[in-house]
Amino acid sequence: MNSTPRDTIYASVKGKVDAFKFDQRVVSVFPDMIARSVPGYQSTIEMLPALAELYLQRGAQVYDLGCSLGASALAVAPCAAKRNCKIIGIDNSAAMLKKCQQIIDQYSHSSFIDLLCADLQDVEYRHASMVIMNYTLQFIPIEQRLQLLTKIQQSLLPGGALVLSEKITFQNPKINRDMIALHQAFKRANGYSDLEISRKRAALENVLLPEHYSEHQERLHSAGFSQVEIVCQTLNFCTMLALK
Ligand SMILES: C[S@@+](CC[C@H](N)C(=O)[O-])C[C@H]1O[C@@H](n2cnc3c(N)ncnc32)[C@H](O)[C@@H]1O
Repeated sequence: MNSTPRDTIYASVKGKVDAFKFDQRVVSVFPDMIARSVPGYQSTIEMLPALAELYLQRGAQVYDLGCSLGASALAVAPCAAKRNCKIIGIDNSAAMLKKCQQIIDQYSHSSFIDLLCADLQDVEYRHASMVIMNYTLQFIPIEQRLQLLTKIQQSLLPGGALVLSEKITFQNPKINRDMIALHQAFKRANGYSDLEISRKRAALENVLLPEHYSEHQERLHSAGFSQVEIVCQTLNFCTMLALK
């Protein structure tokens, strides 16, 4: 699937499972982990250049919030370079950002990307034409999400867009259970054992907090976004587009 080291973090039966953290252990296997765990991840990244063509405004900023190893930032970098936009990748994991810088430095558009190690809630956002938040809001405490999204909305220029990808839940209990089962089948098909799947689920309990699409939609409208739609969905992961 890719050439980065294989994720075997939860393969061991030893010891209790600690709460999930984006530490050095995760950084070293992250591309393999996200590709084998998040249905539709690659499609989300592949959609970004076309979204950038639609929404990047000349000279404006682009934010990649929870940038991890910079996959989203790198996907929009050619368009950013063409339109003289600065991309700001933000993450609060120093280990992630160190590796992210090494990866970005290998690309010709690296000078258009700046990295900032900070909590997303402490940053002042400004002059943005596109904000990308792929699989990161789900790690922010639910009661703090509206304030963060409001700050993001206020930083967007007229015509600006937020691209928000999240794990989601479903209102009907049977469909919700079935979607979880389908997600587990996806992971099994990608080589994770039942032990790894259940230990990872325990590690993410109370750390990754998914919500129903209607909760996202309502909050995005409360934050001031005028239009909100799902533009892509694979099982229980979806990408929403919210326009200023
Ligand atoms: C699932 S990863 C995001 C993947 C990435 N956007 C991509 O498309 O490859 C979530 C990232 O958000 C970061 N993160 C979580 N909470 C954060 C916060 N409060 N402030 C900044 N970064 C945060 C984590 O360190 C992690 O790198």
